[in-house]
Amino acid sequence: MTEIFKEMTSKRYRWAVTGAAGFVGSHLVESLLMMDQEVVAMDNFLSGRVKNLEEATSKLTDAQRQRFKFMEGDIRNYDDCLALCKGVDMVLHQAALVSVPRSFDDPLLNNQCNVDGFLNVLLAAKASGVKSLVYASSAAVYGDGGENALKESSLLNPKSPYAVSKMTDELYAQVLSEDLNVVGLRYMNVYGPRQDPGSPYSGVITIWLSRIASGNEPIIYGDGKNTRDFVYVKDVVQANIRAALLGAQGHEVFNIGTGRSVTLLELLDTIRDLYQRKTGTNPPEGDFAPFRKGDVRFSKADISKAKELLGYDPEYSLREGLEKTIEWFISKGAGK
Ligand SMILES: NC(=O)c1ccc[n+]([C@@H]2O[C@H](COP(=O)([O-])OP(=O)(O)OC[C@H]3O[C@@H](n4cnc5c(N)ncnc54)[C@H](O)[C@@H]3O)[C@@H](O)[C@H]2O)c1
Repeated sequence: MTEIFKEMTSKRYRWAVTGAAGFVGSHLVESLLMMDQEVVAMDNFLSGRVKNLEEATSKLTDAQRQRFKFMEGDIRNYDDCLALCKGVDMVLHQAALVSVPRSFDDPLLNNQCNVDGFLNVLLAAKASGVKSLVYASSAAVYGDGGENALKESSLLNPKSPYAVSKMTDELYAQVLSEDLNVVGLRYMNVYGPRQDPGSPYSGVITIWLSRIASGNEPIIYGDGKNTRDFVYVKDVVQANIRAALLGAQGHEVFNIGTGRSVTLLELLDTIRDLYQRKTGTNPPEGDFAPFRKGDVRFSKADISKAKELLGYDPEYSLREGLEKTIEWFISKGAGK
């Protein structure tokens, strides 16, 4: 990040962030403001929280805080998107209904937020003449890719309404982005501070930490041999900024992960070990439950395209990222 930091502190852009009160969005807001950028942010608080924004802006100087504007708004409303994009250079679109199980429960809401909402943001960005639109896609578009690392050219095989919506966004972006830089980032499993510990739809790391902190067994769905490529949220921030600064025309997609995967059982071992070191307590071992509908078996990104074209270089090992996440978790008393 150091070299982007240098470039950004010498140039000031105006950034729009959707889903800013959420997990990834609040980290984008924080990092951009720390780099002395101007940020206008939007959220409708479907899953986002005011306290994420408070935490994201808590360490800023007064001057940095003055460059931040928040509007409560909904990406399902085109006028809200237009207001957000007015005078903006770069749009980082994170807002979405973010859950495979929830997309099965409510496929209509999933489509309204993740497809209609995406189109509103894309069309408003175009109408406002922004330079770049970077949007969060997902590794879910691949479905089960087998044990080999997923390449951007791998077959797409969505297995849930959520995955269908992200794939649909990519298809729309492909045919509607001739005159601006539009980049889809296929995030693998993102984790880090501020991932909602209270939501059953959250990522496995925060859910397990929450259960461990309250003395409950972490639940392992299936045999624990599912694999995932866990990427620390600050590396996702790096990818977004690099993609926005790409300065190309037209649409590209990139995998954003670490290029390494672990089984859920290995992940749990590492979490338990770190948690024990930090707290001196012996965490519960975990209970098994049946496989969940829509869960993919293996997931690992080939990140060579992002490395080559974006200069993306993940900086956090799983252990480092987990340590930071657990420290945050303990400092906030999260999950209790
Ligand atoms: N967290 C992950 O592991 C992961 C993996 C792959 C892709 N993604 C994608 O990354 C993006 C960010 O995910 P996150 O983990 O930060 O989720 P999150 O739920 O914390 O954040 C999503 C934010 O979008 C807001 N939002 C939802 N619908 C909205 C609407 N109609 N109008 C305005 N705001 C709305 C929510 O209130 C929330 O603040 C999403 O697009 C998600 O699909 C996340």
